[in-house]
Amino acid sequence: MKALVKEKAEPGLWLADVPEPVLGPGEVLIRVLRTGICGTDLHIRNFDAWARQTLRVPLVIGHEFCGEVVEVAPGVEDITPGDLVSGEGHLVCGKCRNCMAGRRHLCRDTVGLGVNRDGAFAEYLTLPASNVWVHRVPVELDVAAIFDPFGNAVHTALTFPMVGEDVLITGAGPIGLMAAAMATHVGARNVVVTDVSPERLELARKLGVALALNVAETPVSEGMRLLGMREGFDVGLEMSGNPRALREMIANMAHGGKIAMLGLPAEEFAVDFATIVTSMITVKGIYGREMYETWYAMSVLLEKGLDLSPVITDRFSYRDFDAAFDTAASGKTGKIILDWTA
Ligand SMILES: NC(=O)c1ccc[n+]([C@@H]2O[C@H](COP(=O)([O-])OP(=O)(O)OC[C@H]3O[C@@H](n4cnc5c(N)ncnc54)[C@H](O)[C@@H]3O)[C@@H](O)[C@H]2O)c1
Ligand SMILES: [Zn+2]
Ligand SMILES: [Zn+2]
Repeated sequence: MKALVKEKAEPGLWLADVPEPVLGPGEVLIRVLRTGICGTDLHIRNFDAWARQTLRVPLVIGHEFCGEVVEVAPGVEDITPGDLVSGEGHLVCGKCRNCMAGRRHLCRDTVGLGVNRDGAFAEYLTLPASNVWVHRVPVELDVAAIFDPFGNAVHTALTFPMVGEDVLITGAGPIGLMAAAMATHVGARNVVVTDVSPERLELARKLGVALALNVAETPVSEGMRLLGMREGFDVGLEMSGNPRALREMIANMAHGGKIAMLGLPAEEFAVDFATIVTSMITVKGIYGREMYETWYAMSVLLEKGLDLSPVITDRFSYRDFDAAFDTAASGKTGKIILDWTA
C-alpha cells in the first residue's frame, strides 16, 4: 500500500510502498479516507531537534484521520465493517494509576500514533478497538478527519465555563480557530482572537468573533477598550505556544480569571507570577483529549450545529503531499486535508 514515510533521518518525507498492516488481537483494520496535517507532521518533515530526538525511522507518519472499517479482530464488539471512524492517537498504557482510575488522558506512558508507532498517512492502518471512535452521528469526511485537533480545541474550551464570559483566545491556527467557533457556539459574550497573521485573523472573523486582533499592531488592552470591557477576560485559551501571548494574556485577565493552556512553547520562558498570584489566576495545562468525554462532546456539538467548515481551507490528493505540506507550513491557512481516495 501507499504511505507517507519518514524513511531517512534527514529532512523530507517519502511516498513509499509499504506492507499492509496485519490485524492483531483486539484491533480494527481501517481503510483511510481523509487525513489532516498537524504541526507535529511539519516538525517531522523538517526533522527539527524534537523530531531528531523522538523518531525512529522508518516510520509511517500522521495521526489525524478518518476511515472506513474493513475488518475487526475476533471478540471486538460494537465496531462493524463499513463503520465510519476516527481514531484517538494517544495509545495509553492501561496499567498506570491514572489509567486504572479511568483517567486515561492523564496516562504517564502514552504512545503517539505516527510518532512512536506507524501512523495514519497510509491507505490502511490498524488501531486497538479501544482507540476507535465510531461516528454514529453523520459527519462530513473532512471534519471527521480532524477530530484529533478538534478534540484539542474542545478539551481546552470546555475546561472552564464560558457561558456569558469574556474569552481571549491567543493564536488563530487551526486549533485556535476551532476553539473560537466553540466559544461563540456555547454562548460566550465577547470572544477575542489574537494572532500576528492577517490571513488567519480574517478566518477568525468569518467565525463571527467579537474581535480578531493583530497583536503585532494593537495590544490586547486596546481591544478590550474597543469592546467596552473594563475588568479583563474571564477565560483565556492559550493556543499559540508563544511566550508573548501568554504574558499579554496574564496581564489582561480579570481577577479570578482562568487560563487553559494548550499551546506548546518550544522552550522555557518567564512570566509575571506576581500578577498570577495577586489576580488569583488559575492556569491549567491541557494535553490531548479526554477519553472519551471529549469525543462525545465533539460529536454532539456538531450534531447541534457547530460549523467547522470555515476552518478547513485547502484539500489535496495524498499524491500532492509536498504541496499540501508547503501550504500548511505557510502559516496563513486553516486546516489542510489530504484525500487518500483520489
Ligand atoms: N497540548 C496539546 O495536546 C497540543 C496538541 C496539538 C497542538 N498543540 C499546540 O497548540 C498550539 C496550536 O496548535 P495549531 O496547530 O493551531 O498551531 P499553529 O502553529 O498553526 O498556530 C499558532 C498560531 O499562533 C500565532 N501566534 C504567534 N505569536 C503569537 C502571539 N504573540 N499572539 C497570538 N498569536 C500568535 C501564529 O501566527 C499561529 O497562527 C501549538 O502551540 C501546538 O504546538 C498542543
Ligand atoms: Zn495533531
Ligand atoms: Zn497509563
